Amino acid sequence: MKARTVLFDELGGPEVLYLADVEIGEPGPGQVRVRIDAFGLNRGEVFLRTGRYYYDAVLPGSRLGTEAAGVVEAVGPGVTGYAAGEAVSIVAKPNDEGMSVHGIYADRAIVAAERLIRRPEHMDAVTGAAIWVPAFTSYGALVEVGGLQPGDDVVVTAASSSVGLAAVQIAAHLGATPIAVTRTGAKTDRLLAAGAKHVIAADDGNVVKQVHALTGERGARLIFDGVTGPDLPDLAQAVAPDGMLIVYGSLDGRPTPLPMWWPINVYGYAIFHLFADEERVLRAETFISDGLRAGALAPVIDRTFDLTDIVEAHRYMESNTQVGKIVVTARH
Ligand SMILES: NC(=O)c1ccc[n+]([C@@H]2O[C@H](COP(=O)([O-])OP(=O)(O)OC[C@H]3O[C@@H](n4cnc5c(N)ncnc54)[C@H](OP(=O)(O)O)[C@@H]3O)[C@@H](O)[C@H]2O)c1
Repeated sequence: MKARTVLFDELGGPEVLYLADVEIGEPGPGQVRVRIDAFGLNRGEVFLRTGRYYYDAVLPGSRLGTEAAGVVEAVGPGVTGYAAGEAVSIVAKPNDEGMSVHGIYADRAIVAAERLIRRPEHMDAVTGAAIWVPAFTSYGALVEVGGLQPGDDVVVTAASSSVGLAAVQIAAHLGATPIAVTRTGAKTDRLLAAGAKHVIAADDGNVVKQVHALTGERGARLIFDGVTGPDLPDLAQAVAPDGMLIVYGSLDGRPTPLPMWWPINVYGYAIFHLFADEERVLRAETFISDGLRAGALAPVIDRTFDLTDIVEAHRYMESNTQVGKIVVTARH
């Protein structure tokens, strides 16, 4: 069995990505073969492709990708709970050796059964490929680590990113006040429509002053920052005295000085904190599934691309003009 698979042989721009027919064989013990109908792009994949991720790509022939949706085609020995024909989402879990080896940018893939989440009949593949990584990341940070409570002021930077929008929705759903920070005013209306109570354009300057003005001079109980870089110590001044600055991304890319405004509670968050505890994962799945059913959570899909346009899809991600998730679909 062959699968059209996205590979790259060297680090570089979007143009290093190419499609190849890769022999994938049959699922082994604990594995399933999934027909992939859609996969969601995450910024970490740009970082792996450019050599900026927290581990190195295995070259040549590195794969990419952490979340997808499709239908189970075959199950390997010892797999219980899944059968051929079942609709599923695939989410990276820490038992993976990394997306460079196990990436799911493809129209079919063999994956560990532990990576599957059952996809409800009414959920289309594009939605199923867009919801889990942003929602798990935001839920785990804001609720499990940050202890988000109704009435909290929550600042979300890079608010139009796929993770940022999930954080805005989760904060609003729990009765907190989401304050979106975005680079310019261009996405303000769409951020308000997505649930932000206030929008701050960082290039107007004075993010800290604006957060203080919006929070009765207390500062925010939680700041959820996916940007980091040299402005982090300034941003730290917008945290309330009993608050927490949760850093989880590196969109800026430059070195990040440690905030020296003490006392301050800075937490470096990764989605693996959630996956480290099965009870947390169950709470997250329940919270997100309930939120989806209630209509309070819904992934914002910016645009879809065909698998054959993977280079364009990555180029578009790096344009930073998107609001929400970029999804790639595969025709069968
Ligand atoms: N810790 C974890 O477990 C975890 C999990 C998932 C993702 N992440 C990280 O979360 C971050 C967001 O991922 P994503 O896939 O959601 O990203 P994304 O959708 O590609 O986010 C793009 C948006 O980020 C903002 N942005 C881009 N470059 C920026 C810069 N230099 N300075 C300030 N803002 C910038 C822009 O939003 P505006 O136009 O609104 O400014 C841009 O539209 C990444 O760093 C990713 O690695 C971490």
